[in-house]
Amino acid sequence: MSKYIYGIDFGTTNSALAILDAENNNLVKLFTIPSLLFFPEPVNPKEPVIPTVGNDAISLYVQNRMRGRFMKSIKKVLPNKSFIDTRIGSKSYRAEDLVALILVHLKKLADAFTGENITTAVIGRPVVFDENPEKDALAQERLSKAAKIAGFEEFYFQMEPIGAAFTYERQIKNQELVLVADFGGGTSDFSLMRLNPEAINQADRKADMLAQGGIYIGGDSFDSDIMWNKGTPHFGRGVKEEFTPGKPIDLPLSYFHSICSWEKMNFLDSLRMKLSIAKSYNFSGKDYRVKNLQTLIEHNLGYVLFKQIEKVKIDLTKVDDAIFEFNESEIEINEPISIQEFEETIIDKNLEKIENYLQEFLDKNQINNDDVDVVFMTGGTSMVRPLNNIFVKRFGNEKIKSGDNFNSVAMGLAYSFKVLAEAEVC
Ligand SMILES: Nc1ncnc2c1ncn2[C@@H]1O[C@H](COP(=O)(O)OP(=O)(O)OP(=O)(O)O)[C@@H](O)[C@H]1O
Ligand SMILES: [Mg+2]
Repeated sequence: MSKYIYGIDFGTTNSALAILDAENNNLVKLFTIPSLLFFPEPVNPKEPVIPTVGNDAISLYVQNRMRGRFMKSIKKVLPNKSFIDTRIGSKSYRAEDLVALILVHLKKLADAFTGENITTAVIGRPVVFDENPEKDALAQERLSKAAKIAGFEEFYFQMEPIGAAFTYERQIKNQELVLVADFGGGTSDFSLMRLNPEAINQADRKADMLAQGGIYIGGDSFDSDIMWNKGTPHFGRGVKEEFTPGKPIDLPLSYFHSICSWEKMNFLDSLRMKLSIAKSYNFSGKDYRVKNLQTLIEHNLGYVLFKQIEKVKIDLTKVDDAIFEFNESEIEINEPISIQEFEETIIDKNLEKIENYLQEFLDKNQINNDDVDVVFMTGGTSMVRPLNNIFVKRFGNEKIKSGDNFNSVAMGLAYSFKVLAEAEVC
């Protein structure tokens, strides 16, 4: 057996792989890619469609003038029972096939580094893929199939926040009771662990893993909130259509729910929906906002639009006033957003859900604020200020720590190999 194993964090937005030298339990290399797929339209329809992954997917999507099938947040498909497969060109892709494309890409990068075909891995999973246990099990089963398709033979699943906890444990000098809060693109995960630098190489850490929990809200939810509040009015929310003269009605809300979430955006790209939108356009008196909706779908602008939304969200981590700007194919959006508006009227409901869940998690596990020595915050969304403030207010600024927001999980997954492999032997 090789001395190397891989820790793999398949994330909603970013995926990372950490290579661990298992002989001395040290990391030797890290790779991070965006969790994106792009299937360009072939010049000749008879030619196979060749998928591209990660940063290559973005470049080719832009180079192909956004023609083709672009996929983001594939992790969210994993618990979706109604997703059987999707046809791209002449091939059908099941959820596990899509995920496997990302795992294969990461594995190839890592194998090129190690010079070996490494088949052992620790793979992360959120605490909650879905609140429904059946769907949650389906998600893990699909992830397991994806790992096999990608060529992994011996692999273990580990909760993502436990991964982050193992990484943080390498930085501390004394024993600490740590609440890990991992805010990603799709989920917010919590883990309460007793960390001890002297226990790093111990195989059995079960007694130190005190509580886990999670909620299916993440950075993507905040993006959807921005889209709903500031984006959808530019695509016809609030516009009326008048099938019966004198009886104007609102355009179907389903249009706007679909364009707020990346997974649903493709629903509008069917002939039936396109006809429905065309009808709405005519019966709205050819309103330019409904035209914008048609353009968004026809020109496949979802990814570039959501990139601008993400930019505003990131700008608001640094400044108090930002602008949501989008100028493409005659769609013009210029919406100022202040941090106060963002907190109080845009992401307020999702913030409240996270705060309520945190309270529930602490109550259920009988944890008082004072019991927690440190809150280790990780994941890209942990940088969103109103979210961070919830923890600062509750635990005090001095208890809040952070590290590498995008790689802590993958690193710790690799570190947890020993714990998982030896537990299996016992
Ligand atoms: N500087 C930033 N400020 C605020 N949010 C950010 C920043 N950078 C990235 N994000 C957001 O963080 C999220 C991605 O974080 P991360 O890579 O930790 O998620 P993930 O691991 O892919 O998702 P998950 O763990 O939920 O599967 C996205 O929603 C992204 O928009
Ligand atoms: Mg993550």
